[in-house]
Amino acid sequence: MLGKSLSPWTLSWFGAAMIALLLSLLLALATGIGPENLDRPEALAIVHLFALGWLTQVMLGALVQFVPVLAARPLAFSRLALPALLCSCFGTVTLAGGFLSLDGYEIARPFFLLGPVALGLSFAMLAVMILSTLITRQTLRLPEVRMVIVALAGLAGLWLSGAAMVSTLTGSHLAVDISQALPLHMLFGIGGFLTFAACGVSYKLFAMFLLAPEAASWQRRAVFSLAALMAGLMLTGLVMLAGAGSLAPLLIGVCAISLVGCALYLDDVRRLWRARRRPVPELNMSWSRVALGFLALSVLLLPFAVWQGGALARASVFAALVGWLSTLTLAQMIRITAFLTWIQVFAPLIGRRKVPVVQSLTHPRRAGLALTIWSLSAGIGTLSLATGFHTGFRLALCGLLIAATQILCELGAIRCLSHLSPPERPARLPPLILPNFMKPPHSGETQI
Ligand code: HEM
Repeated sequence: MLGKSLSPWTLSWFGAAMIALLLSLLLALATGIGPENLDRPEALAIVHLFALGWLTQVMLGALVQFVPVLAARPLAFSRLALPALLCSCFGTVTLAGGFLSLDGYEIARPFFLLGPVALGLSFAMLAVMILSTLITRQTLRLPEVRMVIVALAGLAGLWLSGAAMVSTLTGSHLAVDISQALPLHMLFGIGGFLTFAACGVSYKLFAMFLLAPEAASWQRRAVFSLAALMAGLMLTGLVMLAGAGSLAPLLIGVCAISLVGCALYLDDVRRLWRARRRPVPELNMSWSRVALGFLALSVLLLPFAVWQGGALARASVFAALVGWLSTLTLAQMIRITAFLTWIQVFAPLIGRRKVPVVQSLTHPRRAGLALTIWSLSAGIGTLSLATGFHTGFRLALCGLLIAATQILCELGAIRCLSHLSPPERPARLPPLILPNFMKPPHSGETQI
């Protein structure tokens, strides 16, 4: 089943996302961004290069890969994956560049309008692929499938709130109160889309990597119901943006749901961890625990962020984007890249020659060191933003850049099979991030 449902473009999504990650960290260091100037247009551009270029693209690439596994059938409309990726890259770059028009660079204004259009097209194509694959009578009963569907509603809310703010900032007649729209926009992006999608995918991934039973628990059903309630509240908030009412009561409701939902999700993961049949968890799972710690921290900071805004809001956003979502993604990306490479290169050789195990494609000590630097820097960055400590924040950015570069090298080494001994390596290596156009797949099979 797996070999037949693999999407050919996943590694291209991952490649584009890694480039955006390195670029955003480099630009953050080069432009002198610190806790005191995060609302500057160039900071907004970098935040979106990170949030859309890195996190959203990697999440969408992962969804295109895992939705067929969740639904146990091949991806529908899979030909849309490439145009969706191209529109997403183009939209991210133009939106990020367009933010500079807020600093008086008039030349960037058309890009500010073009970005949301291209991103909207990309998201629509992905929604068509994902929903047509996921929605069947059998799959809709699974909480993790419903969670991914709620995440897509969050993606729609994210786009609508973002596009409404772009429209306001470019002086169009469709205007919203940005001070009300911004908290909702951040909640849609970080919670409603990225976190819900990460939770939906993680149930399957964690059970797979820990060799734990997959049966849904009451906690999982409750997390789904709370996620659906939260998405419903936030979409109501989006409608209220058009009127004059205050969103404060609604945001308090979202905070309360987040606290309860997060506690139930963590309890469910603890249950999986205890029921695992793999005695020593692999590197990706050990570092996912650190990511879960950051999830708890960012949700604990959320009420203060909504109540006070300012430094604690920035710390909560940083802990969520860099500590929770990025640590989880980087840790899993190493393992998923090794797995996809193994399937691509060695699965066809099973039975014909001795094949190495998936784990031998990675260098756990090197990857572990990079993830240690990443997580420590994420912690220092969160603390520095909460306390307004400029030097600490800049140090954290340096650490993040070093760690991301190391992880990029490790991903390159995995793709080049560099950790294998020469006799174990095949004569021809797979392409780094593009599908293998040279060698057509066997009939009915899709390449990685
Ligand atoms: C996961 C994706 C996204 C995340 C996590 C995200 C997050 C954020 C954050 C944290 C801010 C505030 C930054 C600050 O004040 O320093 C922001 C502002 C903004 N975002 Fe996004 N965003 C995302 C996607 C989008 C999209 C798709 C659009 C457009 C369609 C968009 C448009 C805007 C605009 C116009 C602002 C500026 C509002 C202002 O002037 O303060 N964002 N976003």
